[in-house]
Amino acid sequence: MTVQNTSGNPLDQAARDVLLGNDRGGYTIPTARLYPYQWNWDSMFSAWGYASFDMERAWQEVHLLFASQWDTGMVPHIIFHKVDPDYFPGPKVWGATHEPPTSGISQPPVAATLIRKMYEMDPEASLPHIKTLYPKLVAWHDWWIRERCKDGPVAIIHPWESGRDNCPDWDLGMEGVPVNEDDPYLRRDTTHVKETERPQKWDYDRYLAILAFGRSVNWDDREMVENGPFLMADPGISFVLLRAFSDLIALGELLGEETAGLQAQESKLRAGLDKMWNAEKGWFDAYDMRTGRFANILGSGAFLAYFAGVSRPAQDAHFARIWDKVSYGIPSADPDSERFEPRRYWRGPTWPVVNSLIAMGLKDMGRTEAEARLRDETARLIEKSGFWEYYDPMDGTPCGGASFGWTAAVWLTWCGQGRAAQRAGKE
Ligand code: DGY
Repeated sequence: MTVQNTSGNPLDQAARDVLLGNDRGGYTIPTARLYPYQWNWDSMFSAWGYASFDMERAWQEVHLLFASQWDTGMVPHIIFHKVDPDYFPGPKVWGATHEPPTSGISQPPVAATLIRKMYEMDPEASLPHIKTLYPKLVAWHDWWIRERCKDGPVAIIHPWESGRDNCPDWDLGMEGVPVNEDDPYLRRDTTHVKETERPQKWDYDRYLAILAFGRSVNWDDREMVENGPFLMADPGISFVLLRAFSDLIALGELLGEETAGLQAQESKLRAGLDKMWNAEKGWFDAYDMRTGRFANILGSGAFLAYFAGVSRPAQDAHFARIWDKVSYGIPSADPDSERFEPRRYWRGPTWPVVNSLIAMGLKDMGRTEAEARLRDETARLIEKSGFWEYYDPMDGTPCGGASFGWTAAVWLTWCGQGRAAQRAGKE
């Protein structure tokens, strides 16, 4: 094992210990009990975290994720390596047919971007892995464009696909989802985490109803898109995918591959961004694909625009307004909205992992002051309370799951960098 980060900050070792403690042998769970499987984007962040001290382990994580890629190119959001009664809904509820069983939807495609970061950390060790993974990444990105981008931006068929499960963006589409009253179920998440920090029963009833539909059509993408109960354009994934295309193209060029096809897909996606622009509000907005109606709500999905190098003055002004309303990083929903709940999952809390993506974009765009502020605010949350899933953006109260993998990973790769030396310098 090569330990590259030797800043002497005890939090660095604590972060490594979180990842190693969540390691289940080749894959890393987000946190024990609440999320006992391999989650797609969590796993990619874990890999990036491992890359700061154990490159081989990092690549193992990525290969295992892509080993569960479907023939369609889709890379599932959960891989149920070992059945665990702590989690609901498990593979049976998903109607999973693959081996190992998986969920039937995907999650934000951060892989190409983080793989490129890993390459930059150790080009020589990474190159053979990139060669193996490149065609799989191309197939996954092709799947997004083919199956999810009919209207231009990425449309999600389940709020869980966005990774921002219960953010207010989805309320509009969820209102139209018919609930199965005669299909009782028992949640497990609220036995691990305070109910007030998790999605409501209202959301879960609808999550499960969409799952029942997906199961009934065997997760056929066309069926889900044409006849499924939920279909909304998502600014968050659209920007993540747009950014991912530029990183995938860079990886392709590195390998000497022909990237014209990827460039055409990237341009198509970019051209679709205008559809999400809510001119009345002055921000990128989710909309219901069935009705064309905007959600009229601003949240961190829109601010992932920076991650893709996209900014518009009207939204920049909202970004400044929202950020000044809170003390720690970017809130997942607008504090001025009546739907804002500072501790309820994606309805207000600040998420270090999303802060890291927004910051990556700000840095690339040369907005270094904003990047430094975001990094400092995120680091202070972790220094105060450790590696939690998310935090109250007003007072920094830690929320959700503890010993959380991706929070540890972004400490190691981003906000914890040079922190001990910096603080020593200030004292
Ligand atoms: C959960 O169970 O809360 C997950 O976010 C679904 O992927």
